Amino acid sequence: MAENEPMSAPTSTLQSAPVPAADGTPGRGSYWITTFGCQMNKADSERMAGILETMGYTPGSDEHSADLVLYNTCTIRDNAEQKVYSYLGRQAQRKRLNPHLTLVVAGCVAQQEGEALLRRVPELDLVMGPQHANRLDTLLAQVESGQQVVATGENHILEDITTARRDSQVCAWVNVIYGCNERCTYCVVPAVRGREQSRLPEAIRQEMEGLAERGFREITLLGQNIDAYGRDLPGITPEGRRAHTFTDLLRHVHDIKGLERIRFATSHPRYFTERLIDACADLPKVCEHFHIPFQSGDDDVLRSMARGYTVDRYRRIIDRIRQRMPDASISADVIVAFPGETEAQYRRTLALIEEIGFDLVNTAAYSPRPNTPAATWPDQLDEAVKVARLQELNALVERIARQRSARYLGRSEEVLVEAVNPKDPSQLMGRTRTNRLTFFPARRADGSLVAAGDLVAVRIEEVRPFSLSGSLA
Ligand code: SAH
Ligand code: SF4
Ligand code: F3S
Repeated sequence: MAENEPMSAPTSTLQSAPVPAADGTPGRGSYWITTFGCQMNKADSERMAGILETMGYTPGSDEHSADLVLYNTCTIRDNAEQKVYSYLGRQAQRKRLNPHLTLVVAGCVAQQEGEALLRRVPELDLVMGPQHANRLDTLLAQVESGQQVVATGENHILEDITTARRDSQVCAWVNVIYGCNERCTYCVVPAVRGREQSRLPEAIRQEMEGLAERGFREITLLGQNIDAYGRDLPGITPEGRRAHTFTDLLRHVHDIKGLERIRFATSHPRYFTERLIDACADLPKVCEHFHIPFQSGDDDVLRSMARGYTVDRYRRIIDRIRQRMPDASISADVIVAFPGETEAQYRRTLALIEEIGFDLVNTAAYSPRPNTPAATWPDQLDEAVKVARLQELNALVERIARQRSARYLGRSEEVLVEAVNPKDPSQLMGRTRTNRLTFFPARRADGSLVAAGDLVAVRIEEVRPFSLSGSLA
């Protein structure tokens, strides 16, 4: 999940100056992609951008002049969904003046709404669910033959043969499992992302090797519940356990040359095993940061959410992580004002945040979603309660994050240099192994410059709740 960003805001845009097609042909014009939602969507957008560039599209310089505009959408909460409609309204207007504009809605709203989206915005050319991202070229070919296309059927996700156009030159995402087989009572994801589909370990390793060869230093492995990886793949080991687990996968990809850091998200407490924790502690490239949503600090709420674990099980996971990796950072997602949540139950969520001492928590007030059980329950809470609980929660999350940040003061931290700080070009930015964003000047004491992709030691001189600053040690 994007850190500290409301999920309704676009979480990234792909942009750069237009360039001619590689073979010198005039190409098909320019494209623009706006991405809403989670890392899964960002990874899909990078692959779709790669497909568009292979087809001869060039990156456009803005949303309002591009020849093809693609919104990769999110429907996790109502405000995320509504945002898309306001963006689409403006593009529909533009299309009425310029019929050559190609308008695409991809991602989770596309999957949820399907045909209904065409009725609501008839100017659309293509509505495509997340399982169809790797087929963008085929779908656009159908659009070019003059049809409006809706691709939202259940689909086996093809291995992508195009090279993704990655936002970063240093850090990359690699999908390892698509979809979700859980049935949390509040959540649209299983409906929009479909059943779990694990990629084969060899395909994952091959993609990672290719990235390392091209200079990427850090890879984040992605899945809705990444620790459920492999349960849909066949095979049992002689010891009688699943042949493919996420722990096995980590060990399988760990020795890739040139790769310095491995991260993964999101973990589900139900599948987070001691074996996995031990592997993370043993494997030096696996960073000491774990994103394990707990959703609520109350067992009855967890039961009505159908999460399949108790607060105590969650605690034991964190204890075990801290036994093996004392400095590990822990982040999570939490929902407040779930239907029927009492004041006392809500207080248990606050207490758990205080007790665990999270480095970061993505917070949300419950939002009723179409075709989910909880949305039909009678005991929905008032908007005023949602706003009040969320506000208090956010203040607590910030206070705890500030306490957690304080431990870095005066320490020397390993930082992977990612890019120039867009808000202050005299600085570079990167992350600690524990995933704290860190800013520092580009020049060492001896006058030499560091570059993106370098691993440097930064002495931390200033701490803020969600970021750090320092100088090169
Ligand atoms: N698979 C991950 C989470 C994916 S969705 C997991 O189970 O932990 C990302 C986050 O959005 C969730 O962790 C949850 O906190 C939030 N979320 C999902 N549905 C929501 C809803 N209806 N209202 C508010 N927040 C929601
Ligand atoms: Fe949604 Fe639950 Fe699946 Fe996470 S595990 S994506 S919250 S249904
Ligand atoms: Fe949103 Fe879809 Fe991700 S609903 S959070 S973009 S899986």
